[in-house]
Amino acid sequence: MTEEAAFGSLGDLEERARQRTPADLWAYVAGGSAEERTVAANREAFGRRWLRPRVLRGVESVDLRTELLGRRVAVPWYLCPTAYHGDLLPEGEVATARAAASAGCLAGFSTLSSFSLEEIAGSAPGSPRWFQLYLQPEFEASAELVRRAERAAYDAIALTVDVPLLGVRDRQASGGFAIRTPRPAGNGPTLSSPAREPLPGPPPRRLRADAAATWEMIDRLRAVTSLPLLVKGILRGDDARRAVEHGARGVIVSNHGGRQLDGALAALDALPEVVEAVGGRAEVYLEGGVRRGSDVLIALALGAHGVGLGRPPLWALLAGGEEGLRRYLGLLEEEFLNVMALAGCRSLSEIDRDLVV
Ligand code: LAC
Repeated sequence: MTEEAAFGSLGDLEERARQRTPADLWAYVAGGSAEERTVAANREAFGRRWLRPRVLRGVESVDLRTELLGRRVAVPWYLCPTAYHGDLLPEGEVATARAAASAGCLAGFSTLSSFSLEEIAGSAPGSPRWFQLYLQPEFEASAELVRRAERAAYDAIALTVDVPLLGVRDRQASGGFAIRTPRPAGNGPTLSSPAREPLPGPPPRRLRADAAATWEMIDRLRAVTSLPLLVKGILRGDDARRAVEHGARGVIVSNHGGRQLDGALAALDALPEVVEAVGGRAEVYLEGGVRRGSDVLIALALGAHGVGLGRPPLWALLAGGEEGLRRYLGLLEEEFLNVMALAGCRSLSEIDRDLVV
C-alpha cells in the first residue's frame, strides 16, 4: 500500500480508515457517549458559522507559525492526547511522535500510552510535546508522572478534568470492545486507567481518583513542577476563570470528543464564553470537531489560540500508519494555507472575530 493509496484527501480519510479497521476498534475510536448527540454537535457547531473573507490583501505569502505556551511551532494545531496508539499500529506513539515532529506540530501524549513517556520523547528529541495527566489514586503517583514528564523535557502538563468516571459508551458495550494493549501500558503496569475500568457498581459507588479531585488539585500539581499547566475539559466561563485563578497557563475547551457527558454543549459553542472569561490571562485552546482548514480558521477567529485534533490523526494512523499521519498533517497545512489566503489573512495575527458570522 502506498501512502497515496491510503487516502486521497481530508474528505475521504475517515471512510478509508473505517474500511481498514476492525469493527470493535472502530467503535472505540469513533464512538461517543450514549446517543452521541455531543459528538454530532461538535461538528454541527462549525456548520453554523460562516466566514467573511477579505479580498485584495496581498496574500502572496502566508505565515502559519505561532507559539503554543511559549514554544515555537509551525502550525496552530496539535495532536490531542489519545489512548493506546499501540492498538492502532505496532510502533504506537513512537510513530505518532515522529510524524508530528516532522511536521513541526506539537503533540499531546496520554497517561494511557502504549509506550512510556520517555520512549516517546526519545523517538523525537527536541520536538514540542505536552503530557496529559490522568490523576492516580495516590497523589504521589500523579506527582511522579509529572516529574518524569518534566525530566523528559515535555513542555507542559495537561490535566484532564472531565473524566471523574468514564462516560456511558453504548457502542463499546454492544461491540464487546476491550482495549487490546498487546503491550503493557507504557507508563507503568499499575497505572489507573479510565478506559479499562468497568462502570461503577451499586452504591456506594467507588469512582476514580479524578472523582475526588477539586480545584485545590491544581495547586498541588503546580507545587511539584515548574512546567506550565493546562486544564483540559472546560466548557464554562466560570470554570475557566477558576482555572486561571489557580495558576493554569492554559485552558482547553473540550467535551472529550463527545465521549463523556452526552448532551454537553459543543466545544465551539462554549469557546466565546471561555475566551471572554479568561480575558487574555491564559491561552485558550479548542478541541472537538475540527476537521478542515476552515474549521481551524473559525476557531481561531472565535478566540482560540490553537486547536487540538482528536480523531482525524487516529484515522490517518489507521489508514496509512506513520506515513498516513505525515500525509494528513501535510494536507491540513496545505488546506489551511489555502483557506488563510482566500480569507485574506497573511498571518495568524490577522485573524479576528470579524471574520466569522
Ligand atoms: C477515552 C478516554 C480513555 O475517551 O480518554 O476513551
